[in-house]
Amino acid sequence: MAHVRSLFFTGAASESEAKAQAAKKAGHPSSLIWNITNRCNLKCSHCYMAADAHVLPDQLSDEETIELVDRMHAAGCPVVFLSGGEPMLRPNFWEILERVHACGIKPTISTNCTLVTADAAQRLKDNGVKWIATSLYGTREYHDELTRVPGTYDKVMNAVRTLRAHDIGVVLKTAITVNNWDYIRDMIQTAKDEGVGIFYICDLITSGRSEGEEALRISKEQWRELCDFIVDDMLDPESHMEYDIGAIPSTIPYIAEKFIERGVDVSKGLERLSLFSACPVGQGHMAINSEGMIMPCQFSQEWTVGNIRDMEIEDAVKLLRSLDEQPSEGQCAPENCAYTHICRGCRVKAWMRTGAEHGGDSRAEDFSCILSKEAGERDQDLAAAVPCQGGCTA
Ligand SMILES: C[S@@+](CC[C@H](N)C(=O)[O-])C[C@H]1O[C@@H](n2cnc3c(N)ncnc32)[C@H](O)[C@@H]1O
Ligand code: SF4
Ligand code: SF4
Repeated sequence: MAHVRSLFFTGAASESEAKAQAAKKAGHPSSLIWNITNRCNLKCSHCYMAADAHVLPDQLSDEETIELVDRMHAAGCPVVFLSGGEPMLRPNFWEILERVHACGIKPTISTNCTLVTADAAQRLKDNGVKWIATSLYGTREYHDELTRVPGTYDKVMNAVRTLRAHDIGVVLKTAITVNNWDYIRDMIQTAKDEGVGIFYICDLITSGRSEGEEALRISKEQWRELCDFIVDDMLDPESHMEYDIGAIPSTIPYIAEKFIERGVDVSKGLERLSLFSACPVGQGHMAINSEGMIMPCQFSQEWTVGNIRDMEIEDAVKLLRSLDEQPSEGQCAPENCAYTHICRGCRVKAWMRTGAEHGGDSRAEDFSCILSKEAGERDQDLAAAVPCQGGCTA
C-alpha cells in the first residue's frame, strides 16, 4: 500500500509513513494488520478472508490477545490495524483496543462500520483512534448487493458522518472491479463531500471468496486511467484528498512518471521509495490472523511463515525481511526493470500465481504491472509482426 500524496508531497498519512519508515530502519515491525476475528455480520462477495458468521477453530483466546498486544509493544510496533472479519464483533474488542492505547501503540480500526454508533465513536476517540478505515463499493443498491445485507450502505454513510462529527478521520476503501468501475469517480466525490481524508483503492485480489475471479479485475488501461485521474486531482489546489493504492505497486512508478512529465519534483518521493518500496512485503509489514498465523501479506491467508504462539515478533520480522532481500524475477528483475528498487512488483500476487499448492514463489514477476501491456495487447503486436501461416481467416 502506498500513500500517494504523502509519498510525493505531504499529506494526511505523512506521520504514519514517517513512523513506519523509522520502525523499519530500527528492525521493528513497521505496520501490523491483525485480523482479530474471522467472524463477520456481512457476506461480501469478494472477501479475501471468506469471513462469515463462524469463528475459526483455533482462534487466539482473550488472554492470548492481550499478551500479544504487550508483545507488539515490546517489539517496538508503532501502529496496529485491528481488522477482521468484523473486528468490533469480537467480544473483547474494547479490551484489546484499550490495551493497545495504554501501551502507546497507534490503533487504526478497519471496520465495515455497521456497529459504529455515537457511543462507540466516542469510545474509539477516547482510546486514541484517530483513523477509521471503512469500505464503500458504489451506489446504495450495488453496495448492499455486494455485502449481501440490505441497509449496509446507509449504515456506512451514517457512521462516516458520526465519526467526522467526533473529529475522527475516515479512510474510505474500495476494492475496484469491472462491476464498480463506473462508480469510482462518484465514490471519490462522495468521500470529498463527507470530509473523508483518505481514499484507498485496492486491486481485486483473487483469493477467499474471489478465488478464480480474474475476469473481475479491471484492465491495465483502466488502472492507468485511474492513476491519471489521481495525478490530476492531486495537482488541483482545491483538492486535499490523500490516495492510497493497494496491491498494484506499479501504479507508483507510473504516477511518478506522470508527475515528472508535468514538471513536478518527485526526488523526495523516489528517495523514500528506495528505502521503502511500494510493495511492503518483507519490509517490516506483517499480518496476523485470528488463529495467530503470521503472513507476509494479509491478502493471502495461505501464505504463512509460522504462528505467533511459537515465534517472537522480532524473529518473524527478520524472517519476512529475507523475502525483501531476494530480487524479483522475470519482467520485475533488476536487469529488466529500472523501477524494481522502488516497486518490486506485488509479491503476494506472484506467490499466488506460482501456485500455493507448489509452495508459491514470491520472487516471480508481477503479471499485473501497468507499465507492461495486457496479454491481449502483446498478442496483437505479435500477430502484426508474424504473418499468418494460413488456416485462419482473421
Ligand atoms: C477483509 S476487510 C476487514 C475489515 C472490515 N470487515 C471491512 O470490510 O472493512 C478489509 C478490506 O479488505 C477488502 N477486501 C476484501 N476482499 C478483498 C479482495 N478480494 N480484494 C481486495 N480487497 C478486498 C475489503 O473491501 C475491506 O475494505
Ligand atoms: S470484506 Fe469485511 S465486511 Fe465484507 S465479509 Fe469480508 S470481513 Fe466482512
Ligand atoms: S516490471 Fe515489476 S518491478 Fe517493474 S514496474 Fe512493473 S511491477 Fe514494478
